[in-house]
Amino acid sequence: MSPAMAAEMENTIVSETQVYQKGVKNLCDKGLNKLPLKYVLPNSDRPGDCKSDNPNVIGAVELPVIDFVQLCGPNRRHVLRSLSKAGEDYGFFQLINHEISSEVISSMREVCSKFFELPYEERAKYMSSDMHATVRYGTSFNQTKDTVFYWRDFLKLTCNPNLHQLLSNWPSSPAAFKDSASTYAEQTRRLFLILVEAILESLGAMEKEEEELLKEFEDGSQLMVVNCYPQCPEPELTLGMPPHSDYGFLTLLLQDQVEGLQIHHQQKWVNVKPLPNCFVVNIGDHLEIFSNGRYKSVLHRVVVNANEPRISVASLHSLPFQSTMKPWPKLVNEENPRRYKDTDFGIFLQYITSREPKRKNFLESRKIIY
Ligand code: OGA
Ligand code: NI
Repeated sequence: MSPAMAAEMENTIVSETQVYQKGVKNLCDKGLNKLPLKYVLPNSDRPGDCKSDNPNVIGAVELPVIDFVQLCGPNRRHVLRSLSKAGEDYGFFQLINHEISSEVISSMREVCSKFFELPYEERAKYMSSDMHATVRYGTSFNQTKDTVFYWRDFLKLTCNPNLHQLLSNWPSSPAAFKDSASTYAEQTRRLFLILVEAILESLGAMEKEEEELLKEFEDGSQLMVVNCYPQCPEPELTLGMPPHSDYGFLTLLLQDQVEGLQIHHQQKWVNVKPLPNCFVVNIGDHLEIFSNGRYKSVLHRVVVNANEPRISVASLHSLPFQSTMKPWPKLVNEENPRRYKDTDFGIFLQYITSREPKRKNFLESRKIIY
């Protein structure tokens, strides 16, 4: 190959990489009828379907449903038992009657959709390779590490502590963004704190213990991730997000009415059918560690589709960033020895910048093997 040809090929590769770094929405807006190679997963990682006999076969399951009004009423004990069972068997539940108004939810959905419809240059203002950035727009899963890219763009917003200070850096377009997204963030945080109280109670906390632990969560971390999965020309060849578990204590996910989330349950990938007006709540790595393995942080992934774009909002909550998560001493004894090492945000960041946090690797790396 002549040096001129080599240089040209090199340029093509560089510019292609740059195009993919700009995200999927940008790619789609240019018009696409075939999935670029950059997004084609190896056979064994593709979504699979009901007919195939590959290991990614899809089953169907109804997630446990927790009624928030019942949880806060005279049936609390009964609902707490369902909550425990959901944490042990699924790591997920759907929360209905959560009391966040449909206006708050629909205006959140609206500003998120509008944000992704902005011209690329406007969205790109929030791009950053700094993992500590409090506002970060990006694409794929772990953009600097992924060799194959995932069919997803995202906007990550740190929401707590100090929401009002953080807000000045949030997108100023669309005009209602800051207002709607901060109201939504505050209300999901309030809901999270009520759920934590219930979870602590389900793990046997006494009133005094509960109060002390809750105080720590009051100043806790909250990270909101708005995910955008545009229509995909060949959805069977790729994923919106790879199998992963969530770092954090609990995630409150606002799904679209469009299906896409799948959880790993009894060796199968199963679709989570969106219920209207509900949150999908899942146990994160921190709660698995805190409960010393009783509640499970379960693998999940996102499939994409050819017909409609899908937008979801994940709100991830935990202790303050600088805190250490460890098994609750109350749940550790001779029959049930400590199963996880101490974990903090620094250790996590170190891990993800050195490896791909896929397939639950991070949590596995915190397990104590006897
Ligand atoms: C996440 C996540 C699922 C979805 O943001 O961690 O798992 O349906 N999202 O977008
Ligand atoms: Ni997740």
